[in-house]
Amino acid sequence: MADELLCVEDLHTEFWRGDGTVYAVNGASFSVAPGETLGIVGESGSGKSVSVLSIVGLVRGNGQVTGGTAKFMGKDLLKLRRRQLEDIRGRDIGMIFQDPMSSLNPTMRIGDQIMEGMLSHQYTNRKGAFNRTLQLLDEVGIPEGRARFRSYPHEFSGGMRQRAMIAMAVACEPQLLIADEPTTALDVTVQTQILVLLQELQQKQRMSIVLITHDFGVATNVCDRIIVMYAGKVMESASVAEFIARPAHPYTIGLKRSVIEVGTQAHQLKAVPGVATTLMAPPHNCPFADRCQFVTDRCRAEVPELRPLSEGHYVACHRAEEVLAEAGATAVEGATADVR
Ligand SMILES: Nc1ncnc2c1ncn2[C@@H]1O[C@H](COP(=O)(O)OP(=O)(O)OP(=O)(O)O)[C@@H](O)[C@H]1O
Ligand code: SF4
Ligand SMILES: [Mg+2]
Repeated sequence: MADELLCVEDLHTEFWRGDGTVYAVNGASFSVAPGETLGIVGESGSGKSVSVLSIVGLVRGNGQVTGGTAKFMGKDLLKLRRRQLEDIRGRDIGMIFQDPMSSLNPTMRIGDQIMEGMLSHQYTNRKGAFNRTLQLLDEVGIPEGRARFRSYPHEFSGGMRQRAMIAMAVACEPQLLIADEPTTALDVTVQTQILVLLQELQQKQRMSIVLITHDFGVATNVCDRIIVMYAGKVMESASVAEFIARPAHPYTIGLKRSVIEVGTQAHQLKAVPGVATTLMAPPHNCPFADRCQFVTDRCRAEVPELRPLSEGHYVACHRAEEVLAEAGATAVEGATADVR
């Protein structure tokens, strides 16, 4: 759509391994509007991280984006040269990952690392970058900014390191922040603080956020819209209100039911019974067929494409209307579940 900040269509990404090809992303499509928070939810291995890494040019080595478009502010990121993407990453698109230690340089002072991005993207001069770093440390809740500027990552707690990563990611006022499981490694209290911080920064900087999370409850609390991924495809996409009122894909309904049944005890559990598909061949049927109680012969013969069910609500299921009618609706607002 013309007014979207990011519009990804039919994205395909593959990895080559000794034992064959992994079809990690199989025609994923989604979009993010200006100022919107989009949640990407799905089990481990469903292609959440590879989807976002693909669009910012970080799938390398044995992996390759083999199809699709990813229009960001009108430009197809998948057609840009490496150098052009480097300019966009960190300036227009900020990124935060689950483990800040893998993204922070252990031998460099925190303040210098925050300044570095602003200087390399010519966001401001050295003095401006220094002052903005102090301001950012304050904004992300790191007290005594001048003293903390000189600290090294190992001198910070996990929560503080994540705050520093957030400061780095938003330093150049990106239009889009991609946060891949930003709170998974943190304890519950710190998780909440980090999510609140992201929301505050979003409002202040008017940026869009793509939040990847295992936690369906977090997604419903924090996001405007959610997409549910499975086997490298988007299974369902809707506003949070619609997800709560009318989930229409059997997988989403399974996730929702597990939230209700197991509540906050869900962290060690698989939310939906069954084993995920292996991704060693391109899908030729519904990837959820082996786990689906609604499966029919058609599901085993034909890939269901993502199609509109109602305005803004898309589902990749041959039987979505019947599933919706049968499942009814049960609110999950405020509940928490881990869908690994
Ligand atoms: N370098 C790689 N080589 C081979 N396969 C890979 C590689 N990177 C990812 N994959 C495969 O791609 C698929 C999607 O992985 P991805 O990391 O996107 O999952 P995810 O949804 O982010 O899972 P998680 O919740 O565990 O982070 C998985 O099957 C994974 O094993
Ligand atoms: S297409 Fe068929 S197997 Fe797949 S989710 Fe829908 S009903 Fe289940
Ligand atoms: Mg991941």
